[in-house]
Amino acid sequence: MKIIVGITGASGAILGQRLVRFLLEDDHEVHAIISPSGVAVFAEELDIRLGGSHAEIRKNFLKHYKNNKTLHVAPADDFAARISSGSSSIDAMVIVPCSMSTAAAVAHGLTLNLIHRAASVSIKEKRPFIIVPRESPMSAIHLRNLLTLSEVGVHVVPATTAFYHKPKTVEEMVDFTLGRVLDILKIKHKLFTRWRESAAEE
Ligand SMILES: Cc1cc2nc3c(=O)[nH]c(=O)nc-3n(C[C@H](O)[C@H](O)[C@H](O)COP(=O)(O)O)c2cc1C
Repeated sequence: MKIIVGITGASGAILGQRLVRFLLEDDHEVHAIISPSGVAVFAEELDIRLGGSHAEIRKNFLKHYKNNKTLHVAPADDFAARISSGSSSIDAMVIVPCSMSTAAAVAHGLTLNLIHRAASVSIKEKRPFIIVPRESPMSAIHLRNLLTLSEVGVHVVPATTAFYHKPKTVEEMVDFTLGRVLDILKIKHKLFTRWRESAAEE
């Protein structure tokens, strides 16, 4: 699949980092867009400094994934990027993690950066589109925006874990959320053990 992954400045940079890794290892084509706040949270939470200019962000992001040939990094401020067009052959989009600011912009049709524009295109083209919002607690404004998105067909997968698979690490908690994202994309995975399904039955 050709998948756009938008990474915004909500807490949970590890979610975006691990989803991109999984998709590349599973041989998908990933078009990553990282907002400036997403870059800041990558540094804050993962100690990965991507840099300031698009050239630096692109170089360092590609390096982080060992220059994988199916990874592309688009500048967040480039509305003319190929993936911003409805005619591009993109299969699906995920915004992970998704800030309340980005959720608000997308819910109200604002296109202030390429993530918003690609999201707007995903909605109008009715492509599979998933957001992984993170905020706590959420205000009525946040909830209304998420409801608006859900009503137009956006899959809202909150950045929360279940506990029935007894996660022992942060990665196991993160992978539960990412597994639900992959379920929606109909991509097979073994990121978590499903309810009442033991590892032996897989
Ligand atoms: C370390 C850090 C953590 C943040 N966590 C959240 C969060 O969990 N949810 C959220 O909506 N915003 C969070 N923010 C604020 C957003 O980064 C900010 O609203 C920003 O304008 C979002 O822009 P973007 O959506 O274009 O990335 C955080 C900011 C920082 C620096």
